[in-house]
Amino acid sequence: MALLEIDNLSAFYGRAQSLHNVSFNVGKGEIVAVIGTNGAGKSTLMDSIMGMVKNTGAIRLEGQDLIGFDSSEIVKRGVGYAPERAHLFPFMTVEDNLLVGGYTARDDIGRNLAHVHELFPVLKQRATQETATQSGGERQMVSVGRALMTSPRLLLVDEPTIGLSPKVCSEIAATLKRLNEEDGLTILITEQNINFAMSLATRVHVLETGHLRISGTPQELAADDALNKAYFGG
Ligand SMILES: Nc1ncnc2c1ncn2[C@@H]1O[C@H](COP(=O)(O)OP(=O)(O)O)[C@@H](O)[C@H]1O
Ligand SMILES: [Mg+2]
Repeated sequence: MALLEIDNLSAFYGRAQSLHNVSFNVGKGEIVAVIGTNGAGKSTLMDSIMGMVKNTGAIRLEGQDLIGFDSSEIVKRGVGYAPERAHLFPFMTVEDNLLVGGYTARDDIGRNLAHVHELFPVLKQRATQETATQSGGERQMVSVGRALMTSPRLLLVDEPTIGLSPKVCSEIAATLKRLNEEDGLTILITEQNINFAMSLATRVHVLETGHLRISGTPQELAADDALNKAYFGG
């Protein structure tokens, strides 16, 4: 059984429909990427998994339906979320932002915090700094760190590279890879940055105006002429 099953998922903001019958799975231990341009529905997909959007269809975590539960229950069931542009508490310190993530996994707080500091040593050095004064890259690290504080089985990362330099992007990529390889963490990321997605993921899905258009391994997609034209300029 896949860890996450998205089955015929549609998403609605009032009468506007932002996802149309989207289906795909994320296997245990996989890194799966959903790529798409602005407005494709990437954040809507993530927010749907977190119980923040009105949906039809099914979202199952290890066979158990998530639709209808609120975000805190979904976090408790093992989904950690690093939302787009981090959404931190700007006037709280790095450490306090991380600790907020730990409230659903109180028994693991000490161990999780030590692990986040090991993954992102800069967050230990900057523990008492307000996140408002941090660089975009460090804020993204806090965001991933905060999601890890919830002891997730599945980590959702929405556009982690937005606005970041290539150097910081590769640091984030290396850390996500390490979490996957060393901790066996299953990861679903969304990206506009195709190269980043292709370098990390075992399977990639292309989302266009709320429809999943193409799916495959990075190798298969790299060989796809239509995709190359659309995203790599031919
Ligand atoms: N809160 C909202 N209310 C109404 N429409 C929304 C809302 N959030 C997103 N949308 C619409 O849903 C579509 C997908 O948006 P989004 O999921 O944010 O795309 P992406 O993350 O891929 O840029 C867009 O047409 C967007 O305008
Ligand atoms: Mg988005």
